[in-house]
Amino acid sequence: MPTKTSIQNIGQFLGQSVTLQGWLYNKRSSGKIVFLQLRDGTGTIQCVAVKAELPEEVFQICQSLKQEASLRVTGEVKEDERAQNGYELTVQSVELLHQSDDYPISLKEHGVDFLLDHRHLWIRTPRQRAILKIRSEVLQAMTLFFSENGFTRVDPPILTPTSCEGTSELFHTQYFDEDAYLTQSGQMYMEAAAMALGKVYSMGPTFRAEKSKTRRHLIEFWMIEPEMAFVDHDENMRIQEQFVSYIVQHVLKHCAIELKTVGRDISILQNVQPPFPRMTYDEAIKWLNDNNYEIAWGEDFGAPHETALAAQFDRPVFIERYPTAIKAFYMQPDPDRPEVALCADLLAPEGYGEIIGGSERIHDFALLEKRFEEHQLPKEDYDWYLDLRRYGSVVHSGFGIGLERTVAWICGLEHVREAAAFPRMLYRLKP
Ligand code: 4AD
Ligand code: MG
Repeated sequence: MPTKTSIQNIGQFLGQSVTLQGWLYNKRSSGKIVFLQLRDGTGTIQCVAVKAELPEEVFQICQSLKQEASLRVTGEVKEDERAQNGYELTVQSVELLHQSDDYPISLKEHGVDFLLDHRHLWIRTPRQRAILKIRSEVLQAMTLFFSENGFTRVDPPILTPTSCEGTSELFHTQYFDEDAYLTQSGQMYMEAAAMALGKVYSMGPTFRAEKSKTRRHLIEFWMIEPEMAFVDHDENMRIQEQFVSYIVQHVLKHCAIELKTVGRDISILQNVQPPFPRMTYDEAIKWLNDNNYEIAWGEDFGAPHETALAAQFDRPVFIERYPTAIKAFYMQPDPDRPEVALCADLLAPEGYGEIIGGSERIHDFALLEKRFEEHQLPKEDYDWYLDLRRYGSVVHSGFGIGLERTVAWICGLEHVREAAAFPRMLYRLKP
């Protein structure tokens, strides 16, 4: 019996007969030879069926296969310099598992709406497979970084009674007799967890009912949120630059084929090493004004501002100390200058914008209580969060990194939607 294996491991079986199981991605036929492009989720390989060397019925099956038919192929592994992974298979036998109907996604260009309607099939194409593989490897790199650096994973709830990032973008739902909201961020729970475990992180879906239709916004996206006791704003930024560099270098090492498949220029990613440049919000405003952007101190950046600021550098840049008034209620003000907060956004180069938002958190009870009033948030709903400032409050910081934006940047994608298997976007809930 030939060994069953997968395309990614085929190199171990040079000169031997193996069995692969997968789907027909593409086919070319000359009458005497059929070239089958087989994909199995781990890669693609060309399988060569030669009429003169095969029983008639086997060759006929090869000729009859339609795009996306599922099959089992047995053949001999040969070296082939032209192939992406260096090998091809000489077909000895083929078993048709399921013939495919006429496949709606042909190998030519389709419009994006058509592709999104067929997302359940679109993900079978090599480019989409490569993106999903890189996304998985990004999560793997994050998990490794956290485990090597003493973090514990804690999973905050999805259903929450309150908002974390402002009430205008909350998804409402009914929780029996109470109002509930889909989480915008697990941060407040992670702050509680940091007081229990020191260094913690979460990874999971978050929701924003934002009526934004941009290449950077999803309605449902994954956020990874580390939170650390006894860590101040400066150390928070140092951890972020190590973390992001670790992820990028891990993907470069483990996803060379996938990065090639998506056409990424990896020389840009190779620069992503600490330290990252830092600019204050004040410096950023001055730089923008000097470069003919009309923006006044106190205003938030738009996408064109972020793109221009980040374009000065060959790696992500921190913009720190934004005006307190335009940032979330929980951010620690600078003690020497309370009109700015001890926070930073990390902007990715090449127009990808903010991939991380982070800050030192207010640890003083009275100040936080005052903020709830200023932001008109019902203090009684946040009593448990205020409790964290009642019992051994300490300086602490954390950040949230958007998974799809990070993957979009690493892959060089036009739009974040391709970084999610089934993106939830404005007016798109299906499939
Ligand atoms: O800056 P944000 O809103 O920060 C927070 O939610 C903090 N509570 C995180 C924390 O400190 N624990 O969101 C963090 C990141 C952004 O930098 C961005 O990468 C991503 O989440 N993000 C989105 N990604 C896709 N679509 C959207 N609509 C996003 N909104 C935020
Ligand atoms: Mg933000």
